[in-house]
Amino acid sequence: MHKGVFVLALVVFIPRAAEALDNGLALKPTMGWLHWERFMCNIDCDKDPNNCISEHLYMQMADVMVKEGWKEAGYEYVCIDDCWLSHQRDAKGRLQADPKRFPRGIKKLADYVHSKGLKLGIYADVGEQTCAGYPGSLNHYDTDAQTFADWGVDLLKFDGCYMDWKLLGEGYVNMSKALIKTGASILYSCEWPLYEWPFRQPNYTAIRETCHHWRNYQDVYDSWSSIKSILDWTSSHQDIIVPAAGPGGWNDPDMLVIGNFGLSHAQQESQMALWAIMAAPLLMSNDLRDICPRSKKLLQNRHIIAINQDPLGKQGYCTAKVNDFEVWERPLSGNRLAIAVLNRLEIGGPRDTFIKEVPGWKICSPLCNVTQILPLYKEMGVQNPESNLVVSVNPSGTALLTVIPVSGDFTGLHSLL
Ligand code: GLA
Repeated sequence: MHKGVFVLALVVFIPRAAEALDNGLALKPTMGWLHWERFMCNIDCDKDPNNCISEHLYMQMADVMVKEGWKEAGYEYVCIDDCWLSHQRDAKGRLQADPKRFPRGIKKLADYVHSKGLKLGIYADVGEQTCAGYPGSLNHYDTDAQTFADWGVDLLKFDGCYMDWKLLGEGYVNMSKALIKTGASILYSCEWPLYEWPFRQPNYTAIRETCHHWRNYQDVYDSWSSIKSILDWTSSHQDIIVPAAGPGGWNDPDMLVIGNFGLSHAQQESQMALWAIMAAPLLMSNDLRDICPRSKKLLQNRHIIAINQDPLGKQGYCTAKVNDFEVWERPLSGNRLAIAVLNRLEIGGPRDTFIKEVPGWKICSPLCNVTQILPLYKEMGVQNPESNLVVSVNPSGTALLTVIPVSGDFTGLHSLL
């Protein structure tokens, strides 16, 4: 065979990785704010006008996001969750917002959010009702997709309550098609695998082809036990879920609860570091109008955000569990590596660990440059494979580092991770 023909044949028959919903959205994990964990289904605006689910909440959040550096840090989407709807569809069968709490309607709210240079997210459900009992989209996918497009909505979180699990795939795919048919650029956030896991292992190839991100596991709560359970679920299913992530489609371990009530500062650092390693959407659920400066600084930490948004788009793995430490590693562009060391012991003081014992440390050959990002930014200089570099990790805290080889070829290592 002629050499040129042989090369061509090889190109044609290389098996292709799972395709993402290929419309140019979610090339990096989504960043923004989502109301659910902090504001839930608070619909009593007479009693609690400042915190109820109303247009004011999103307008105020959009204002703060611009004024307080959130937008500049990369947080872009202002997202409505459940409980925004009226219990009745309109005369034409379209969803409508609760008229008392959203008197100007969603289109006006989208215009406002856009005028701030931000994007608006909305929430609906693949089944008969939303989880909080508002009208679902079952049998209305085309109408609802068109309604959201007409309003100028930029993201749809599509929940999976009140749906026969055997029809979940069909429902999520049909809504995806309906959104694409509108011609609008609507980012599609799914919960398909979360609702399918109790019955069978979901098909992540199909999910990636359908959605831009997908929830796999239970709702996050404002507690360390909730964060731990999400991490444990992720590490025990990583062989199944990690290969599905990449530019255009991401695993979604749920909202960042940093800046609320339940996590110590060390635990907040752990959530931020591990969400960066997991290439997770960074959707904060907190009150940006009233947040402590330390949490704000953490959420806006550009070094951690850069790891989360790394253009290589590979999700990290848990690579070791030893001596009550967990090591998580994420390959980054430019043959760099991010390492997170989480101290799972919840007693005692800071504990030291040798970085050379981390599996990915082999990247440090013959020399590497190490930077600690958490708990404090510290340039640790040029190191070698035998270096006795130690990091100190607080109980339930995380040390986050980047390692940059000074020379050498490390592409092989990346394919192992
Ligand atoms: C489900 C979802 C949550 C939230 C609520 C709203 O529990 O997983 O993220 O959207 O519904 O009712």
